Amino acid sequence: MMLDGAYRRTLLAVADAPLVRGFVTRVGWRLGVARFVAGESLDEALPNLRALVGSGKGIVLDVLGEFVRDESAARQAAGRIGAALEAAAAFGLEPYFSAKPTQLGLGVDPDLAFELATGLAEAAARHGGHLCLDMESSGYVDATLMLFERLWAAGLHDVSTVLQSYLYRTPEDLERLLALSPVPAVRIVKGAYNEPRDVAHQDKADVDRAYRALVYRALEGNGKVNVATHDERILDEVGAFVRGAGLESDRYEFQLLYGVKPRLQDRLSREGHPLRVYVPFGEDWYGYFSRRLAERPANLAFVLRGIAG
Ligand code: FDA
Repeated sequence: MMLDGAYRRTLLAVADAPLVRGFVTRVGWRLGVARFVAGESLDEALPNLRALVGSGKGIVLDVLGEFVRDESAARQAAGRIGAALEAAAAFGLEPYFSAKPTQLGLGVDPDLAFELATGLAEAAARHGGHLCLDMESSGYVDATLMLFERLWAAGLHDVSTVLQSYLYRTPEDLERLLALSPVPAVRIVKGAYNEPRDVAHQDKADVDRAYRALVYRALEGNGKVNVATHDERILDEVGAFVRGAGLESDRYEFQLLYGVKPRLQDRLSREGHPLRVYVPFGEDWYGYFSRRLAERPANLAFVLRGIAG
């Protein structure tokens, strides 16, 4: 278990090195990026999206991008997401989007992020879609929750956010969300960033234990719980629980990442669970790709085989 954590932290640290970033970005697609990223544009991703929808699964669309340093970059990022949202709706796809708050300028000015997120949430709502604010590294949790609460207070209720079970603070953050009226949907994940031991569990068993506790606590509330993991044991346990409790698709949904455990995705969907696949696309895939490699040593081996030819 500790080895898992050490591998993850080392890979995320190495991925931050400019030399590594330069090399990986240059040889890009050959490294197997396409296994996790559906295309460099919505047009390229379209056949993959249609195949998912055709097999009865829902989608979460993510126009890849991370932290931006200034207002103009934030406006450009929001413009790209807005254009993809309109295009998705025109293609007949449900415009359910996820966005990183720092992509919308949260690290520059919270008012700017609020303005841009409001525009996207309104556009999503117009087309019967949804906007989820992804959760990033621990330094942004307070600001992300505040941004989410501002949107909620403004009456934008086709929005949701994410909580990470590796953070010690998360049980309190969940109570804060459960106290809102109406209770919002929340996506619960284990957490993908390199966090120090003073803020986050380092041992996988502790992260898993915290994950279960959060999901069951959230299911006691009235909101929708988006159970986002590839942990088959947890998914089967929660699946049995929701069946026993008679919970319908307005109360829970399973969410998995594009390219990760596709057979498990098919099985859960066949069993009749509401399931949504998170599909990233776009040119700015480096940060997303390195987090997927950090989650599983076998993914790195797959990439290294690609480099060796
Ligand atoms: P765990 O790591 O225990 O893995 C369970 C099983 O799945 C293992 O067998 C493992 O090998 C396999 N597996 C996991 N990841 C894999 C991968 N990349 N490739 C192949 N196999 C893999 N994080 C975050 O911090 N903020 C966010 O907003 C989000 N959003 C988000 C949305 C959705 C839909 C998902 C599924 C996940 C996220 N995450 C996230 C990522 C999340 O925090 C976590 O890093 C990954 O889901 C991996 O952890 P698991 O829950 O799958 O469990």
